[in-house]
Amino acid sequence: MASASPQALFLYTIAAAALLIPGPTVLAQLTPDFYTSICPQALPTIRRVVNQAINDEPRMGASLLRMHFHDCFVNGCDGSILLDDTSNFTGERTAGPNFNSVRGYDVVDKIKTELDRICRRSVVSCADILAVAARDSVSILGGPSFTYSVLLGRRDATTASLNAANSNLPAPFFSFPQLLSSFQAHGLDLTDLVALSGGHTIGLARCTTFRTRIYNDTNIQTNLAASLQRACPPTGGDNNLQPMDRTPAGFDTQYFDALLRNRGLLHSDQELFGGGSAASDALVRLYSTSPQRFAADFAAAMVKMGNMQPLTGTNGEIRSDCRKIN
Ligand code: HEM
Ligand SMILES: *[C@@H]1O[C@H](CO)[C@@H](O)[C@H](O)[C@H]1NC(C)=O
Ligand SMILES: *[C@@H]1O[C@H](CO)[C@@H](O)[C@H](O)[C@H]1NC(C)=O
Repeated sequence: MASASPQALFLYTIAAAALLIPGPTVLAQLTPDFYTSICPQALPTIRRVVNQAINDEPRMGASLLRMHFHDCFVNGCDGSILLDDTSNFTGERTAGPNFNSVRGYDVVDKIKTELDRICRRSVVSCADILAVAARDSVSILGGPSFTYSVLLGRRDATTASLNAANSNLPAPFFSFPQLLSSFQAHGLDLTDLVALSGGHTIGLARCTTFRTRIYNDTNIQTNLAASLQRACPPTGGDNNLQPMDRTPAGFDTQYFDALLRNRGLLHSDQELFGGGSAASDALVRLYSTSPQRFAADFAAAMVKMGNMQPLTGTNGEIRSDCRKIN
């Protein structure tokens, strides 16, 4: 630092101070242009494959968004969710929140194969693929106002944790205080909770995840409960699917409109409005009338979530097959 300029010293001081901040959110050295010189075609390639997958099946955008969330909440955004179980390795695929529920593994494989062909070597991490595929999904289904810049440079884990996958993800029967503590334990706040839950503006949920709500909750609109009960019987039909808002292939503010009318599909969705938090109620009202505010807060919260405990530098590896450790 002998010949450092005052500006450099100043920035160094900020960086050093930031490293001292305690808590689960590690300030990472991720950058938006990580692949600009290593493989300039990396991001357009991911977008192309995601676009094709969504054209084939609109729900895939929702599935890819959720996969990034389930990766990040379990010991950080490190691609651990993608590892297959083998005879001597247990991954996260059979965890309660993932099993028979998380989908999109084949699309990730396809993206990785395309990237390795176009970049001529394996340089893009599986963890970064998930972050970019989530952004592209939102952007394709929501349009330009839902497009944001993704920070990159994550590396892939050589471990996974079935226990952490079972215990670190919030459950659909959670109350508002439980949802908030789950997010706070990951360094996220109330605004992040409400904005990120807006991810439920796309995609579908299985009967088994909302059955108790439609038969036993009192804060559900009568018409909605009646029609959902026809689609999801008291027993059987566990895998019957229902959309989480009126427009499951449109990234919009319909999810928040639904909450205002007691039409949340999951118990945890409805907890965000009328669940006892005035601050959460106010955000649901705000997002329902302001797509711009939803887009801005959602993007900021996605970047924050994407920054959770990434492996960088020489930690971890760049997997050549997203399902296996090298
Ligand atoms: C706040 C706590 C959350 C809870 C309790 C929760 C719970 C759930 C449940 C139970 C499902 C249905 C799964 C199934 O039927 O197998 C689901 C689907 C989904 N979740 Fe969440 N989730 C939460 C937060 C999030 C976040 C933060 C995101 C992303 C930003 C997200 C994105 C999605 C998407 C897109 C789907 C639909 C997936 C598909 O159609 O394949 N969720 N969630
Ligand atoms: C697990 O088994 C595979 C072969 O199936 C082997 O290549 C790998 O080294 C083994 N890993 C450990 C940690 O024993
Ligand atoms: C509704 O609540 C009753 C009483 O607690 C319980 O026995 C029943 O299993 C619940 N129904 C569903 C579908 O969760």
